[in-house]
Amino acid sequence: MQIEVKQGAVELAEDEAVVLNCFEEAKRFAGSLKAIDDKLSGALSHVYQAGDFKAKLGQIGVLYPQGRLNFKRIIMAGLGKKGDLTVEKIRLAYGFAGRKLRELKLKSVSVQTFEANHPAVKLQQSSQAMVEGILLSNYRLGQYKTGDENDKSTLERLTFWKEKRKGIGEVNRGVKNGEIFSWATNFSRDLANRPSNYLTPTDLADEANKLAQEGKFKCTVLPASEIKKLKMNSFLAVAAGSKEPAKLIVLEYTSPQRSINTLALVGKGITFDAGGLSLKSTENMLEMKGDMMGGAVVLSTVAGCAKLKLPLRVIGVIPATENLPSGSALKVGDVITSHSGKTIEVLNTDAEGRLILADALSYARSFSPHAIVDIATLTSSIKIALGTICAGIFGNNQALKARMIRAAELSGERVWEMPLWEEYQEFLKSDLADIKNVGGRPGGSILAAKFLETFAGDLPWIHVDIAGVDFKEKEDSYHSKGASGFGARLLLQFLKDWKRIQSG
Ligand code: BES
Ligand code: ZN
Ligand code: ZN
Repeated sequence: MQIEVKQGAVELAEDEAVVLNCFEEAKRFAGSLKAIDDKLSGALSHVYQAGDFKAKLGQIGVLYPQGRLNFKRIIMAGLGKKGDLTVEKIRLAYGFAGRKLRELKLKSVSVQTFEANHPAVKLQQSSQAMVEGILLSNYRLGQYKTGDENDKSTLERLTFWKEKRKGIGEVNRGVKNGEIFSWATNFSRDLANRPSNYLTPTDLADEANKLAQEGKFKCTVLPASEIKKLKMNSFLAVAAGSKEPAKLIVLEYTSPQRSINTLALVGKGITFDAGGLSLKSTENMLEMKGDMMGGAVVLSTVAGCAKLKLPLRVIGVIPATENLPSGSALKVGDVITSHSGKTIEVLNTDAEGRLILADALSYARSFSPHAIVDIATLTSSIKIALGTICAGIFGNNQALKARMIRAAELSGERVWEMPLWEEYQEFLKSDLADIKNVGGRPGGSILAAKFLETFAGDLPWIHVDIAGVDFKEKEDSYHSKGASGFGARLLLQFLKDWKRIQSG
């Protein structure tokens, strides 16, 4: 996809279509809308007057200039009331517009940017949201069908038109960021949508290596023998049931700038979760090829940080394995000694995410990060608690949580804070070992987070449970069917806005 920003009036575009921003209060048009309306003898105003198109959020109108302008179609994108505008509403409106472009099988399209800051949305943010809406809605599930591929997006070229010179820098930055943020989401979707026989832990590690070679970051893949030397026995215990070798994927992006903060990201990389000996039902197993989405998000985010050239050092740790039952599998009641030295009594092998993350978190501590964020499709109980609209966040540091909540507002990937009160720890007490990996069903997502907290230790830490938001049953605006890629834009926003923590 080729994306560029041009200075000039959008009515001068020569293209297959032009997307125009339309608000509900359109008594009198100004700027490009007026110029186009005049050229078309009032056709735009007529669409409003007829009442067919009210510019409600997500509403799309299509008009044909019939040779009176140098583009073939006008796509009117309804943004709702001007006074109610938010970044997310622009993203949603452009998600619908993007779907229309796909439906019409257009290759080359021009888009009208905003001319200035809106009271609630900066020019850079509106430009970024437009790009995200279009690119995210044009994502198609990589299919394994052999026949015709009609469903593919045809979009090849997008041109963003800004009439006045003032603010063109902001538009340029917004468009560039939108491209990178959307890439990260779509890449995460791609990996999480891949069936487990097309994405083994080795395949995931290969993808990480490939990206690292293309981008400017390091990737080290540790095989089982190295993982063993590191004494990450909790991770290896989960891997014991599978013939596919486990991989510890370690990524490192370092900005050349000096005295920067180090952030560690940890992502659950279970490429298939059958539950182990605590076997899942067929129905519950259906989505479990996507149990590595946290890992995919960490990989995309580190690559995104490199593309954005953020002034940070970002470490990514992705423990990748399958969770299968077999003669060599981890058994219920087993006690394992984790990387941290703490012993864990395993009472349910389906609570495997926390076992691999326990080791990955304590391993991540060895990079002395200023903060750690882990992201995982961890518990079905977060879906019961919060549904499919937002992720649950847990953390031991108020300032860090506030930053994550702000990043969620801006990225449209919403989060809700869950508690981590001391009383919950009681449920994880083991008679035999330092801790047990399950503590009953009530408050299941909190108990899982409480378990992880033990291994994150005293470092500022946030856990994002994405098990409720990992998968979409149907497409809608910029959301595609299947894996959502939730978390990539959230983490990129969080890191982009990172303010230095003063050490000492
Ligand atoms: N991968 C699952 C969690 C999950 C469920 C993700 C649904 C996406 C959709 C996780 O490994 C798991 O099985 N968790 C158990 C924990 C329980 C045994 C304490 C769960 O949530 O049921
Ligand atoms: Zn599980
Ligand atoms: Zn799992």
